[in-house]
Order: sequence, then structure tokens, then C-alpha cells
Amino acid sequence: MPQAKQIVVITGAGISAESGLSTFRDSGGLWEGYDINEVASIDGWRINPEKVLDFYNLRRKQALEAKPNNAHKALADLQNDFDVQIITQNVDDLHEKAGSKNVLHLHGELNKAKSSKVDDYIVDIGSQPIELGDKAADGSQLRPHVVWFGELVPNLEKAAHITSKADILIVIGTSLVVYPAAGLIDYVKQSIPKYIIDPSEPEFRDLSDWNHIKEKAASGTPKLVKKLKDKR
Ligand code: APR
Repeated sequence: MPQAKQIVVITGAGISAESGLSTFRDSGGLWEGYDINEVASIDGWRINPEKVLDFYNLRRKQALEAKPNNAHKALADLQNDFDVQIITQNVDDLHEKAGSKNVLHLHGELNKAKSSKVDDYIVDIGSQPIELGDKAADGSQLRPHVVWFGELVPNLEKAAHITSKADILIVIGTSLVVYPAAGLIDYVKQSIPKYIIDPSEPEFRDLSDWNHIKEKAASGTPKLVKKLKDKR
């Protein structure tokens, strides 16, 4: 029995756009309305933790109300025929809500909180807001379990290892401009089929040997999943 082909899927905010969650860099995106340094950096946390907590409490509430779209569902279906590993930059849980099993979050998860002193004290908070004065067991202020700009990406090495083993790579809904996540695509074996699903042309990338499906995720992903299943 030949070993199941391993498909690695790297996703970004674009896969959740049709579930009603804002992307970051599209027009009208989150970074048009907020200053990254104020709400998504360790300096912002030090200067005004309440502003940071409010930003993530709002996003957690929006993510709670969001439903997986046909892109998330198609990826969950794909795991019935292939060994599928999702590596997501997203902090929502729409992949898990759609039924995907192997989901690695590079930038953290909105439904978790952690100590602001040590990295390994992480608690599930579901949809609960984090307020100023909410303490971790070590007595420190609880903070979102999200990787802020200027912080290390704890799952990067694991993600790079997974990506290097891919037999097929699919990238969905990411501008590929934020490192180190964007550098993951450099770990793939050059010879494997590579697909990118995005209505726009990712900048600064030579994707000449990629299959670019210039569609939104919710329409492009089911088509690609059907093609891969039919080719099996
Ligand atoms: N379907 C597919 N792709 C889409 C859709 C859609 N419906 N809508 C937008 N896109 C694409 C955009 O063309 C763009 O290439 O999704 C991408 C969104 O890019 P960003 O807004 O930069 O989001 P992302 O790449 O996930 O950002 C990476 O930056 O701010 C940090 O931590 C944050 O994880 C985030 C990281």
C-alpha cells in the first residue's frame, strides 16, 4: 500500500475572508483601522495593555460568530483521501470548526490566553474576553495567546519540518509578506506540485512554477480538492 501523499496547506487571513473575518492588508483590512504597533506588538502591550485586550476581545467575539466557509470544509474533506497538514497564520478556529484534524497555528489562537511572564502557561478561554486584572496562576496579567510582531514564532521549526516533507503544497489566502511564516514556502522540495489560491497576485514572488488559481478561497479550494481527489 503506497504511503498516502502528504499535502501541506499554508493558510492566511484570506481563507477566512468569506466567513466575514477581515484580512489585514486588503483595502479595508485590519491594519487600515489599527496601528500594528499599538495593538499587535510587545511595546504596545507595555504601553497600553487595555487597548491590546480590547482589540483581541473584539476579534475573539467576531471569530466566535464566524462559520467555516466552503474552503475550510473542502480542506476537511481532503483529509479523507490524503494525509493533510494545515499550517495556518490565522488565530481563528475555523479550520477546526470545519473538522480539520492536523492544524498547526503559527501565530497563536484567539480562544487561548497565556501568562505575560512565561510562555508555557496557556489556558483555554473559549469566547471569554480577557480583562485588565485577569491573572494567570503565576500572578501575571493574562494576555492573548497570539504571537505579536517582534516575538518569536514557537512552532516555526515544526512547521518548516512539515513543509519540507510535503508531496503537494497548497497556499491559500496569504500575502506572503510576514516572515518567518512567509519563508516556509522555501522549505518545499522544488519538484512537487505547488498551488496558490488567491484572487490577487502575491507580490515579490516568482510563482512561475506554481499553479495560480486566481479565485476566492471558497470557490477555488473545492475545485482544487475535487481535482486532487479525481487524480488519486
Ligand atoms: N480568498 C482568497 N484569498 C483572499 C481572499 C479570498 N476571499 N480575500 C483576500 N485574499 C488574499 C489577499 O489577496 C491577500 O493575498 O488573502 C491575502 C491576505 O493577506 P494579509 O491581509 O496580509 O493576511 P495574511 O497573509 O494572513 O497576514 C499574515 O500578518 O498581520 C500579520 O499576524 C498577522 O497572520 C497575519 C500575518
